[in-house]
Amino acid sequence: MNTQILKIDENNIEFSKISIAADIICKGGLVSFPTETVYGLGANALDTNAVDSIFLAKGRPNDNPLIIHISKLEMLDKIVKSISPLSEKLISKFWPGPLTIIFEKSNLIPYSVTANLETVAVRMPQNKIATALIDYSNLPIAAPSANLSGKPSPTLSKHVVEDLSGKIDIIIDGGDCNVGIESTVIDLTTCIPTILRPGIITYDDIKREIGDIAYSKKENDNIPKAPGMKYRHYSPKADLIIVSGSNDIESKINSLASQKAQLGLKVGIITTDENIDKYNKYFLLSIGKKSDPSTIAKNLFAVLREFDYNNIDIIFCESFEKIGIGEAIMNRITKASGNNIIHV
Ligand code: TXA
Ligand code: MG
Repeated sequence: MNTQILKIDENNIEFSKISIAADIICKGGLVSFPTETVYGLGANALDTNAVDSIFLAKGRPNDNPLIIHISKLEMLDKIVKSISPLSEKLISKFWPGPLTIIFEKSNLIPYSVTANLETVAVRMPQNKIATALIDYSNLPIAAPSANLSGKPSPTLSKHVVEDLSGKIDIIIDGGDCNVGIESTVIDLTTCIPTILRPGIITYDDIKREIGDIAYSKKENDNIPKAPGMKYRHYSPKADLIIVSGSNDIESKINSLASQKAQLGLKVGIITTDENIDKYNKYFLLSIGKKSDPSTIAKNLFAVLREFDYNNIDIIFCESFEKIGIGEAIMNRITKASGNNIIHV
């Protein structure tokens, strides 16, 4: 398949291009589009065949449900059974934006979207290209992140080209994704509202709006609540090892790195602007500023892909404090490492 690339500027949208992409969605095709979090791989959420082709293009296990993207609240009424007062509070505070809410699904939504669950994940993105595409299609759009299953999520259109060129109809190149990590997912169908996936909208942000909430213990559950969280994710080709501890992590990483380099391995290190001068000259990449974790979220997936481009064999990464956005950052790098954490 020949994949068409459409370059669109979010601040000066050419609607003739949006309309080409919307036409493809309406005909059951696949369009990758930018959102404020990561690039999505979109299809008509009401068309089972179109939804099946998302799973095929990504190589995604079909027990991992998709998020439906909407551009106006009228769409929500049609795809969910009911909207509780708690969801109304979250919607009015955080939509459009990087928060996905789980509702009971209506009969309109095919089970291929929800992986046979009776619930459906919905979000209203903030990116104007995304909302224009949904508006022009006049359809709810099912969209996982537009990476091959298991690879880091795409935050630049070139990442989508790397993974999906030749497999989908259109890639909209709309520039960088500002947030850089996927939306926070919260389940409001449980007794206590439960965060299934941490994101830039934090536990405290949500608690402030609706009171008591819980974190899913999905990692320990036999039946994971966010089925996608059980798979190895975001993985660069190299082994990734997180080094955690209270003092002098940098010299511990230097010494681990030197042992591996002596074995002939190409060593990479993920560090921060504050710490980059503390390392010997391995393949060093700063992921952002420790003092501003939103920069770390923004760069994280692109940095993981950089190590692949440079054929690195083993990567050491400093750990981050699990507070605020740090919770989501540690969630993603822990998954990328396959839970490979050394405490020093
Ligand atoms: O920011 C985002 O959410 C991006 C952009 C493209 O919008 N999308 C995204 O989709 O990250 P995906 O498919 O990569 O992740 C969706 C997550 C998975 O962990 C999935 O298991 C969970 O949401 N999920 C979807 N429907 C669910 C449901 N009904 N119940 C529980 N978890 C669900
Ligand atoms: Mg994903």
